[in-house]
Amino acid sequence: MKTFLPATLFGIFLNVAFTLTMQAAELPQLKMEQGVGQLIVNGRPFLILGGELGNSSAGTAAQADSIIPRLAAMHVNTILMPVAWEQIEPKEGSFDFSIVDHWMETASRSDMRLVILWFGSWKNAFSNYAPSWVKSDPKRFPRADSADGKPQEILSTLSAESCRSDARAFAALMRHLREKDSQRQTVLMVQVENEVGFLGSGRDRAPEANRLFHERVPEALLRALTARRSQLSRELAVNFNEHGQNWRQVFGDAANEAFMAWNYASYIEVVARAGKSEYALPMYVNAQLPAPQERPGEYPSGGPHPAYLEVWRAAAPSIDFYSPDIYWPNFEYWIQTYQVSGNALFIPEARMESAPGNAFYAFGQGRAFGFSPFAIDNLSLPEKSDDPMPHMMHVYELLTSLRDILPDAQASGSTRGLVLHTTSPRPTQTVALGGYLFEATLSRSWPAQTILADDGAMLILEASPGEFYIAGSRLTVTFARDPDVAAGVAQIESIEQVSRVSGQWVTEKRLNGDQTNQGRQLLLDPLQPHIYRVRLLTNFPERSD
Ligand code: DGJ
Repeated sequence: MKTFLPATLFGIFLNVAFTLTMQAAELPQLKMEQGVGQLIVNGRPFLILGGELGNSSAGTAAQADSIIPRLAAMHVNTILMPVAWEQIEPKEGSFDFSIVDHWMETASRSDMRLVILWFGSWKNAFSNYAPSWVKSDPKRFPRADSADGKPQEILSTLSAESCRSDARAFAALMRHLREKDSQRQTVLMVQVENEVGFLGSGRDRAPEANRLFHERVPEALLRALTARRSQLSRELAVNFNEHGQNWRQVFGDAANEAFMAWNYASYIEVVARAGKSEYALPMYVNAQLPAPQERPGEYPSGGPHPAYLEVWRAAAPSIDFYSPDIYWPNFEYWIQTYQVSGNALFIPEARMESAPGNAFYAFGQGRAFGFSPFAIDNLSLPEKSDDPMPHMMHVYELLTSLRDILPDAQASGSTRGLVLHTTSPRPTQTVALGGYLFEATLSRSWPAQTILADDGAMLILEASPGEFYIAGSRLTVTFARDPDVAAGVAQIESIEQVSRVSGQWVTEKRLNGDQTNQGRQLLLDPLQPHIYRVRLLTNFPERSD
């Protein structure tokens, strides 16, 4: 006997089923695992082997068609793409998401993920991605002023009207992403604004900014910093006086930057919260980093620099983490400044030239969950099969094969990384892992002993006691017993060049003789990155006494 549900009941049933399926798809989220930030996608840690597009590379649908398949073939798994406020809301209140939709559809066909960069009120300090109805109405959307009272092409952080309009557009974007993408989850995270901060005289000098600067520092900020006094950066700690009244009294020499940090963070909190209430993807803010001896205002003052993270955290609880854009040569130093408690490490922008080596450092030593060189769309695939592949592509190919084991190893502290340049202050660097020291120098030719490449790098993963996988190139590595762990002499038991295919190790070559300097060293290939399995033994020399 057949039974028929009345049409309305059937409709309700479909609706409930649809809502349940929607709820069943767990959103991408951040998790701190033993102090290491992981991005969880479909229940598993996801490593972003990313690339950020050039600023003018995501403005048309046709660009998606040419760029996405090319990057997918290069083992990039996530593209960071700008979405401009002016493009999605060309007329106030009327939204056009057609380009974003095309990028999401094309990405999902190539199994590519996206991180959306919201170029809203500010991109690199300036406000040129705001729509023309915003830029042409400075009365309604006031600007920040220079020291001589001139309005800048920088929207004021203090305008409730600008903040409301940006938040409304961002919320519309996030709502649209939820409707279109929450099932397939092409979009993993969102960066809110881009490299914010005030360029010029240290802080905004508009009348409203001057007034607030001379008024009491908000109680919420005082309370938050007092509670975290022991975690404050040196810049905040040496100046912070919770008994002061105005910004100068409380923050001394750090007053301009602390004031701007609080105001940018408070504005961005409103924007991020509006977006999250529509679709709660992880959200972060990125920083342009100062050059040595630069003063705030010469670099964007008030951005989320390491020294001011506690100000940002106090103002912007909706932001999940803060990220450095690292273009300076001291990549390792900047990574370390963002390895602060509770901050998941992700590098949204890095210099392409040094990116292959720095990627090994970021994942191995920084225990980052993602890395992304800037202007990745400038890389071209080899035209002929025997043309050399871009180095970055090799590195991502190797890291792709390790992605099933790397996140657990990062969380358990079983990874290290090292990068060396011809310009490094020391020609030799050593890292310790699993009771052994790994001492690396740049690869040299034999017998002339000239350095073969400007940089070399490796990621070390300890699989079991004495068994290591080392991914990298252009280094020579010598092993010793770590005297802090145990006595004895380290000896190489075996070195093999291996690859990881569908979660299984495959031995490609057993290396010995000239290829291991007669069993004494690991010689990483000076041309291409590979993975090597190194087994080490400890011998205990007999004592004569
Ligand atoms: C940093 C910015 O965030 C990017 O959008 C881009 O402008 C690069 N600088 C250019 O080098």
